[in-house]
Amino acid sequence: MPIHRTFAAALAASVLVPVASWAQGTYPDRTVTLVVPYAAGGPTDTVARLVAEPMSKALGQQVIIENMGGASGTIGAGQVARADADGYTLMLHTSAQATNDLFYDKLAYGSREAFQPLGVVSHTPMTLVGRKDLPPETAVEALDYIRGSGEGVAFGNAGVGGPSYLCGLLIENRLETPMVMVPYAGTGPALTDLLGGQIDLICEQATNTIGHIRSGAVKAYATTSAERLPSLPDLPTLAEVGLEGFETTVWLGLYGPRDMPQPVIDTVVSALQTALKDPLVTKRFADLATTPASAEEATPEGLLATQEAEVAKWKDLIEAAGLQAN
Ligand code: MLT
Repeated sequence: MPIHRTFAAALAASVLVPVASWAQGTYPDRTVTLVVPYAAGGPTDTVARLVAEPMSKALGQQVIIENMGGASGTIGAGQVARADADGYTLMLHTSAQATNDLFYDKLAYGSREAFQPLGVVSHTPMTLVGRKDLPPETAVEALDYIRGSGEGVAFGNAGVGGPSYLCGLLIENRLETPMVMVPYAGTGPALTDLLGGQIDLICEQATNTIGHIRSGAVKAYATTSAERLPSLPDLPTLAEVGLEGFETTVWLGLYGPRDMPQPVIDTVVSALQTALKDPLVTKRFADLATTPASAEEATPEGLLATQEAEVAKWKDLIEAAGLQAN
């Protein structure tokens, strides 16, 4: 082989090999931002902060939380959809990723198309809780109270589309009684206002209510899941107290913008899997009635399947019941 060709081949190899290993080997070499598309202090924020620490350890870089709340997570998700798909901007969203599409005609992004699913993170039941001095003492009385109040009950939520909103909408529909839907940038500030007595009721993930239920700072009426919660065994399900078949639970999922490089996806998924096995995370999740995703769910395929199943679950029901945002 002529000497200049050998040199050219050697040069090409010396250039290409380090470039390829750089592309696969150095992510992340700076801070990773985990966008929470809800206000600080809500359940999504709580879970994000719990998993960010072991993920930081696994990635060897700090994972910092940025709260971008509003409109059921659509404002923050819109920002993430437009971010560089380099793995430095990730997002922890809720099952609103599935249901927002069913309520908004003109989202600036497609929840299915604009994101790279990375893995389910957790599952959480919801609880129907009232301000401490709300007159009803039991779930049956609470439903009667809503019925009897006309449009007078102020129901806090994180904006049209997400689980905290959908839960209220289903209650309104089943009781054939509208409530005053009070939107917040997340259920964190909604719970703060409930504790302060400014609003009457919320459906909130147990992650954020269990402590307040146990301390008596709120009145707990029911769980919205199909079964009673092992951690709150005295709390009836809404189905038990007359809303037959009622069931809403929430999952949280990790996403990035679409078109992330495969090696980056693999690195983030591996860090998520490590975080979900961290003993501190499993302990805190258990304290907060929150279940970590299984290893199969905490994958891109697992999250995609979960999101699609959620759309299928609600699509017909929302249409058949004629549920409309109010
Ligand atoms: C939040 O973090 O604010 C909630 O997850 C929002 C919701 O449940 O709708």
